[in-house]
Amino acid sequence: MTGLSGKHHVLFLLPPGWDALSKALFGHAAFNSFLHGKDHYAPQQIDYFVGFRPPHGFLKTLPRLKAIFSLGAGVDGFLRDPEFPRHLPVVRFVDETLQREMAQYVTMHSLIIHRHQRGFDAAQKEHAWRQRMLARPTREVCIGILGMGDIGAVTAERLLMFDFQVIGWSRSRKSVPGVTSYAGKEELPKFLARCDILVCMLPLTPETEGLMDAKLFAGLPKGAWVMNVGRGGHCNERDLLAALDSDHLGGAVLDVFQTEPLPPDNILWSHPKVTVTPHIAGITDPRNAAAFVVDCVARAQSGAPFKNVVDLNKGY
Ligand code: GLV
Repeated sequence: MTGLSGKHHVLFLLPPGWDALSKALFGHAAFNSFLHGKDHYAPQQIDYFVGFRPPHGFLKTLPRLKAIFSLGAGVDGFLRDPEFPRHLPVVRFVDETLQREMAQYVTMHSLIIHRHQRGFDAAQKEHAWRQRMLARPTREVCIGILGMGDIGAVTAERLLMFDFQVIGWSRSRKSVPGVTSYAGKEELPKFLARCDILVCMLPLTPETEGLMDAKLFAGLPKGAWVMNVGRGGHCNERDLLAALDSDHLGGAVLDVFQTEPLPPDNILWSHPKVTVTPHIAGITDPRNAAAFVVDCVARAQSGAPFKNVVDLNKGY
C-alpha cells in the first residue's frame, strides 16, 4: 500500500472467526501486528488498537496508543469501560456493505411481517392451504426507524422502494427524501403512534438505554411489531414479553439481546411471537475492515483527519 512509511504497531483483539482480518494485515509491510493472547508484545510499543468489545481496563494498559479502531459501528463496548482513555480518537467502522446488510435484514423482516410469511410457514407444516390477504395495502403500512444515521437512512431508502411509508426519529431533525423526520423526546409519542413496525437502529448511549420499555410499547398502535437491530440494552425484555403476551404487540424480531449469546433457556427462543437471530443483521466484513484499518493508519501517518470519529459526548 502507498502512503505508509515506517512501521506501525497495531494490536488486534479480535472476536472469534476474524482470521481473515488478521491474515490480511499480518505481514503487511507497514505494520508490526500483534494478536492479543497469541503474540508477545510490549504494551508500550502499541500505536493503534483494533477490536470490538475489549475487557474493561484493557486499553489503559497501552500507554503509547494514538487511536482506537472499532470493528463495529456501535462503540458502546468501548465507552462503557469506566477507565476508557477518553483523550484518544475512536474511529468506528461503517461502510456501504454494513449499511446495505442492515437495510436488507430490516427489509426482509418487514416483508415477512407484512406478507404474513410466518403464518404460511406454519400452515405448510400442516399441509394447510390457508389463503390470507394482506391486512392492508403496502402503502398504508408505516415503518418507523428509531435512529436515522448512516444506516437508518439507507434502510429507509430500501423500504421506500417497496412502497412502505417510512418515518424516522432521531435526536436532531434529519432530511432524508421521502421520510418524515421526528426529533427529540417531545416528538416521540407522535412518531410511535404512527408505527406499524418499529425498528430500532440507535446507538446505545446513556440516553437511549432502556428506551424501549412498557411506556414506549404502550405508545405503539395495537398489533404493531417491534424489530431490534440496535443493542439489547435498548429493550426492556420483560416489558416486551408483557406487551406481546397481552396481545398489545403483534410480534417482535430480535437480533440483539440483553445477554449475548442468548442463554438456551431464555423464553425468547421459543416464544411464538418472537423471531430470534444471533446478532447477524450487519456484520463487518473482515476484508473491508482490513482495508479500513490500513486507510486509517495511512491517514494518521499523513496527518489527514480520520473519518467516522466518534463524538464521545454523544456516544456515536
Ligand atoms: C455490530 O453490532 C456493530 O456495531 O457493527
